Amino acid sequence: MTDTLTIVDNRTGKKYDLPIQDGTIRAVDLRQVKAAPDDFGLMTYDPAFMNTANCRSAITYIDGDKGILLYRGYPIEQLAEESDYLETAYLILFGELPTAQQQQAWAREITNHTMLHENIKKLMEGFQYDAHPMAIFLSTVGAMSGFYPDAKHVFDKPARLRQTHRLIAKVPSIAAWAYRHSIGRPYVYPDNDLSFTGNFLNMLFKMTELKYQANPVLTRALDVLFILHADHEQNCSTTTMRTIGSSQVDPYSAMAGAAAALYGPLHGGANEAVLRMLNEIGSVARVPDFIKRVKSGEAGNRLMGFGHRVYKSYDPRAKVIKRIADIVFTVTGKNPLLEIALELERIALEDEYFVTRKLYPNVDFYSGLIYQAMGFPVEMFPVLFAIPRTAGWIAQWEEMLLDPEQKIARPRQVYIGPVQRPYIPREKRA
Ligand code: ACO
Repeated sequence: MTDTLTIVDNRTGKKYDLPIQDGTIRAVDLRQVKAAPDDFGLMTYDPAFMNTANCRSAITYIDGDKGILLYRGYPIEQLAEESDYLETAYLILFGELPTAQQQQAWAREITNHTMLHENIKKLMEGFQYDAHPMAIFLSTVGAMSGFYPDAKHVFDKPARLRQTHRLIAKVPSIAAWAYRHSIGRPYVYPDNDLSFTGNFLNMLFKMTELKYQANPVLTRALDVLFILHADHEQNCSTTTMRTIGSSQVDPYSAMAGAAAALYGPLHGGANEAVLRMLNEIGSVARVPDFIKRVKSGEAGNRLMGFGHRVYKSYDPRAKVIKRIADIVFTVTGKNPLLEIALELERIALEDEYFVTRKLYPNVDFYSGLIYQAMGFPVEMFPVLFAIPRTAGWIAQWEEMLLDPEQKIARPRQVYIGPVQRPYIPREKRA
């Protein structure tokens, strides 16, 4: 058996042998398949990249059928149990778990970069009080491009590392200030005595007390949620990060685009959409009617927090989140929407429509309930997703930059518009 694919072009009768590597053929190998010598050659047509690998990556592995998720080879369940976000971010970015010394140096670097430039604060203050915090978040990340001109040197390793420290460290500050802005409270400066997540909670919720004491159970729960969201290979926002980054622009500009992609309701905005959906359903008694409407496709209704392009079984992150939800609710009291969510899940896991389409709860189905119980408004949910995903975005961006096979991203198209035609003067148009 050889690792090749034989194609016969029935237009010409010609036979081609294409090499198969890692379960893929190279789309450019199809260019030799021509019906005539001046033919461009065969292309693949793959809207939404349903069956196209865009890169070779050593960061995150997903087996969607078995429900497996690994960061650099380590199972997500073990990381959620044993690790913390900062260590996991290191793992994702640098490929190995840090030694004690590396962890210390990493934590020190991140702690030292949490402050935001005072002019960034002014920029954020320019937003209306009711601006969506995700709009503030993505604009501020993009604006940082103007504050750190050394970020343009994308092939300079120390410069890349500086931006990595800045981005990982500053995203919680931006997120917290976006929140404080929306509720008209003064911004809280970072506190270097606190952990990554503890400091974030401090910037969000500190009032006049000298030292804000976050509940350790909630701090740990948020940290685990950060671990679960840190990377997820070639999803929409990561693909955006890679695509924008492939033009060799600075990482702040690329990440503003990635955050914008995450904002959408089919991606990181889904947890917000789940909460809105649960509120709209309102009671367990109305769940069957809602399921009926989803199945009929009425007004584009979808069961938000269900389904995934890659997972065709239970999302392993959702399993961990469901466990965390129980722990969080012992501190905060049960979120009244939980009963509705559990009933939706119970029905959906038995219903033929969802079963045949392999639609299972994804990471967003329960995360919103936890965030809400912890006191976050729904608008903050996608921002809470963007903070840890920063690690994944930067790691994927750097991997793309250093991959000699990568070039500026530029897909082809199948043109279906009019053939060439002469310009019609305005007075002669029908
Ligand atoms: N509710 C009801 N039906 C659904 C759902 C859903 N949530 N998701 C998919 N389907 C149906 C589709 O209508 C389609 O049915 P059909 O074959 O009869 O037309 C079939 O399942 C396949 O769906 P697609 O849209 O082709 O699947 P795709 O891989 O493109 O979409 C997506 C994946 C966007 C996640 C989709 O499942 C969805 O919209 N889910 C709800 C939004 C959501 O929870 N997003 C978060 C994803 S996780 C993340 O980004 C962190």
